Amino acid sequence: MTTQQPPTNATARVAFITGASSGIGYATALAFAREGVHVVAAARRMDRLAELQKAVLKLPAAHGDILLIEADVTRPETLAEGVKLALGRFGRLDILVANAGLGHRGSLVDADWSDIDTLLRTNIDGVLHSIRAAVPVMRASGGGHILIISSVTYNLTSPYAALYAASKAFVSSLAHSLRLELEGEHINVTDVLVGRTQTEFNDKRLGAGKRTGEGVPTMSPDQVAAAIVRATHGNPRSVIVRFFDRLLIWGNIFIPEIIGRIALRQYR
Ligand SMILES: NC(=O)c1ccc[n+]([C@@H]2O[C@H](COP(=O)([O-])OP(=O)(O)OC[C@H]3O[C@@H](n4cnc5c(N)ncnc54)[C@H](OP(=O)(O)O)[C@@H]3O)[C@@H](O)[C@H]2O)c1
Repeated sequence: MTTQQPPTNATARVAFITGASSGIGYATALAFAREGVHVVAAARRMDRLAELQKAVLKLPAAHGDILLIEADVTRPETLAEGVKLALGRFGRLDILVANAGLGHRGSLVDADWSDIDTLLRTNIDGVLHSIRAAVPVMRASGGGHILIISSVTYNLTSPYAALYAASKAFVSSLAHSLRLELEGEHINVTDVLVGRTQTEFNDKRLGAGKRTGEGVPTMSPDQVAAAIVRATHGNPRSVIVRFFDRLLIWGNIFIPEIIGRIALRQYR
């Protein structure tokens, strides 16, 4: 944790972002700060968060403030402590972007259990811990908005990417139920269905399968970040950034076997 000075704008919204040290989380932190939103940036790599802080401080004058939190989403106590520090610094919490996540490729049966465990503890438990840490403070703040970063693979028949796709199916399913559980408390929940994005995600992916799904168009993390920030000005049930991703999701509804066989060729 770094900066301790009081916020320059005490009425600005406050966004807690997990996995803010790279990729989509980093771009989202910058995009919020550019809008004047105060950012609580959480991740394990503090050196990368320090780079984010430098980038925020270089933004034009009306930017939001930034608080860096060293947190591992698989360890709920680090998130609880992070939320406490955020409350101490900014006095409220309006937005949670549950973004930290990892990929996995390879045979479901032959995968190392340690990789499966890391994947599920990060992509599933990490989202649960983040929500359970943030909601009590949002309640005290009079409401809020939770954005769960899922994937277009959430409904994809995904041979050799089955564990990752299933982890995203879990959080997407959770988002839709939670949206109704929390609406009476003025807490919005949005499922963000992200397609292939140019980040460190592919390089860090767990598992033996190293093929990347050649030929699938990529987008920039800034595009995804802009869609996330835009969503917080409304209350969409889900966000799909590109038309290509919408086509993929429809394909999985109407022609799942064909899409699954294309995925099999891509991922095996
Ligand atoms: N890139 C894509 O094509 C794509 C497509 C669909 C969905 N997504 C989703 O988008 C989200 C962000 O991924 P990205 O593409 O931006 O990848 P990325 O650049 O690899 O970023 C992943 C972030 O998650 C953090 N993280 C991982 N494990 C963590 C842990 N145990 N505790 C705290 N933070 C942790 C990393 O920070 P530290 O290592 O510093 O902790 C990093 O900041 C993920 O949920 C991913 O599933 C990505």
